[in-house]
Amino acid sequence: MNETIDLMKKHVSVRNFTDEKIPADVLKEIIEAGQAASTWKNFQSYSIVLVQSDEQKQALFDVQAQKSILGCSAFLVMAGDLNRAQKAVNMYQEEFHPEGVENLLISSVDAALAGQNILLAAESLGYSGVMVGLIREKSKEFSQVLGLPDYTYPVFGIALGKASRVNEVKPRLPYEVVVSDEKYQENTKADIEAYDQVQDEYSNHRFNKWSERIVEQWGKPEDSATLENLKDKKLM
Ligand SMILES: Cc1cc2nc3c(=O)[nH]c(=O)nc-3n(C[C@H](O)[C@H](O)[C@H](O)COP(=O)(O)O)c2cc1C
Repeated sequence: MNETIDLMKKHVSVRNFTDEKIPADVLKEIIEAGQAASTWKNFQSYSIVLVQSDEQKQALFDVQAQKSILGCSAFLVMAGDLNRAQKAVNMYQEEFHPEGVENLLISSVDAALAGQNILLAAESLGYSGVMVGLIREKSKEFSQVLGLPDYTYPVFGIALGKASRVNEVKPRLPYEVVVSDEKYQENTKADIEAYDQVQDEYSNHRFNKWSERIVEQWGKPEDSATLENLKDKKLM
């Protein structure tokens, strides 16, 4: 349809990278494109910790062994950030209320929109990457290594670099399953089974079924690491 839409539809997460580094000026351009994303009331309630040194990548990898952290050119940690808000509030008053679900949504959505823009900008320049949400399983440890202060928390990381291996584009749910006209339409078991089959064919029967992986996520109570860290950072 056009170059932008073609690029978006060609997106594939990449977890294996060559040794090629993203030049500093290019990386800055990519991140500034990320900052251009829409943001709640222009508050920009996120910060980015840019990790490029081998030592710091190793320290993060030691906490959560995702190979993309070690192999990438740059690992960006998208952090929800109300620390900046505290400083602004304190210019006028002591009372500050960063805690709660709505505030968490504001900062997490802002971080996610910027992160998606960053990945897309990188892809537009021939680089690749993957978002790494599993860092939240080790929220406290990541916060410590990165020096995240009160009122901040890791949302996800983005590993960026030059791809050494690229998978086929992963098929998404059919349009009709995701989009309802005018009023919400619940999906059926048949919708889920049909997509299980699509995913199974895509992955050459190598992984558990899509629906089985959903059970792994939501068939048990959630891991407490994120909540505990949010309490630690005075956000809950
Ligand atoms: C917020 C978020 C967190 C993610 N975390 C991880 C992760 O920790 N490890 C990983 O290998 N992939 C991670 N991914 C990548 C997804 O697995 C991937 O986007 C999805 O399987 C669809 O595949 P595609 O991006 O290649 O189309 C994450 C994606 C998102 C949006």
